[in-house]
Amino acid sequence: MDLLAPDLVDRLRSALEAAGFGYDGVASLLGTEAHRALSRNETTPGLRATTGGSPLATMVRLWPLQAPVATADAERALPGLVEPLVAAGLLERSGGEVRALVDLRPYADDDRGWWVVSDLTPGLDGAPIAVGPDHVLGISSASSSLAQLTVREPFGSALDLGTGCGVQALHLADHVDRIVATDVNERALAMTRLNATLNRVTVDVRAGSLYEPVAGERFDLVVTNPPFVVSPATDERLVYRDSGLPGDEMVRRVVTGAPAHLAPGGWAQVLANWVHRRGETWQDRVGGWLAGSGCDAWVVEREVADPAEYVELWLKDAGVHGRPDYTSRYDAWLAWFEEQGVEGIGFGWLHLHRVDREPVVHLEEWPFEVEQPLGREVAERGRRLDRLAGLTDEELLALRLVTRVDVRQETVGEPGAADPETIVLRQQRGMRRARQVDTAEAGLVGACDGELTTGQILDALAALLGQEPAALRTATTPVVRDLLVEGFLTFPAAR
Ligand SMILES: C[S@@+](CC[C@H](N)C(=O)[O-])C[C@H]1O[C@@H](n2cnc3c(N)ncnc32)[C@H](O)[C@@H]1O
Repeated sequence: MDLLAPDLVDRLRSALEAAGFGYDGVASLLGTEAHRALSRNETTPGLRATTGGSPLATMVRLWPLQAPVATADAERALPGLVEPLVAAGLLERSGGEVRALVDLRPYADDDRGWWVVSDLTPGLDGAPIAVGPDHVLGISSASSSLAQLTVREPFGSALDLGTGCGVQALHLADHVDRIVATDVNERALAMTRLNATLNRVTVDVRAGSLYEPVAGERFDLVVTNPPFVVSPATDERLVYRDSGLPGDEMVRRVVTGAPAHLAPGGWAQVLANWVHRRGETWQDRVGGWLAGSGCDAWVVEREVADPAEYVELWLKDAGVHGRPDYTSRYDAWLAWFEEQGVEGIGFGWLHLHRVDREPVVHLEEWPFEVEQPLGREVAERGRRLDRLAGLTDEELLALRLVTRVDVRQETVGEPGAADPETIVLRQQRGMRRARQVDTAEAGLVGACDGELTTGQILDALAALLGQEPAALRTATTPVVRDLLVEGFLTFPAAR
């Protein structure tokens, strides 16, 4: 794929705009059924919905549906552009038809929209999956997860490490002044440059591995969805997922390398896999990478795969399922896991926040549904930790805390019983946390409406429950800290 001259990119953008090739335009042309079918990699309903010959229909057939279109239709949709796009390796002409060699589709998140060029989606309509080692992935569910976890605050600078088609960089342009995007894959870098120009975004695109291209530089934000697949070294390395490093070494290097590239107060947000190795907890393993980082760290393990399901997932992703070498590759990968003592592979998120105080490191398993986007919660949790770190217990008890509006109480017990067996506080939004509490803690959360101080509420509860006030204060203060960190309680708004 060659670089397109900026004036050609301008003309391409004008053609896309003129055709109405935006997310809503495509969705409405396709209709719900065909749109949903396409998300399952099925094109037949989409082909039936795009027979009108309009420029929009031609573009949808050409790119998302990967169908050949008549050259005359392509010329009408992309006036004066077919020849240059063929020359640049984006389109291919054959007989009287033109087909796409790369994907180009509108992408929307919230109220923002972009066009994204990436490699063609493999395996449409059940075709065998065949991708080259330098395949540049389009927008995956992992890309969207990271985008939604990202702290979206005004920042001076950000690094998108392993940019791929540049999707994170496009998002960053909304709230960051200076963006550096790196990758080892030249093809990915070419697509990121094209996507930046197409979307009128400025990105400093650099080639190189890990932090090499940004040696000595610091950023307010680092985001990365690195090639984290834990696999033995094979000849069939797909650069978008296989780092070429053993086990979870790539993720270790990303995580341990991040703090040196964070400006004071900076964030690093990483999607990752890590191994559960015999004789070692995952918290000890990942926690070990965070020691001495100078950063608060919040690590959330979202799921754990056993070795067999993990191998199946990634062999299928590479199109190996059903091939003659499938079982031998499966066996070799499992044998390697066994040799390494790998009993499971965790998937999750790491949020590092550079602080100038004693860092707080928290690793947790939260496999339950959450409400994305969580970027704001990540940032607010960081601010709550900062504020808590500066408060003595006495100062904390003197605050008028407020219960988050979405917190609900669930009680479970025998019918007719005077007291519940268990009380659970549950958040309806964000992380959707649930936490079992005792009667006093439930009473406290129920009473935190910003009127009374925490200490006053606890003293009233002590009288009500027949407990010693000082003892209840002492026992409950660490819980109040937890409830604040977890977002059940919030600090009073600054006046
Ligand atoms: C899973 S893709 C993520 C792409 C994109 N950032 C996203 O969020 O969808 C991982 C990217 O990391 C790149 N990569 C692989 N090895 C790398 C390395 N050693 N240093 C930097 N990037 C690397 C791959 O080429 C690929 O583009």
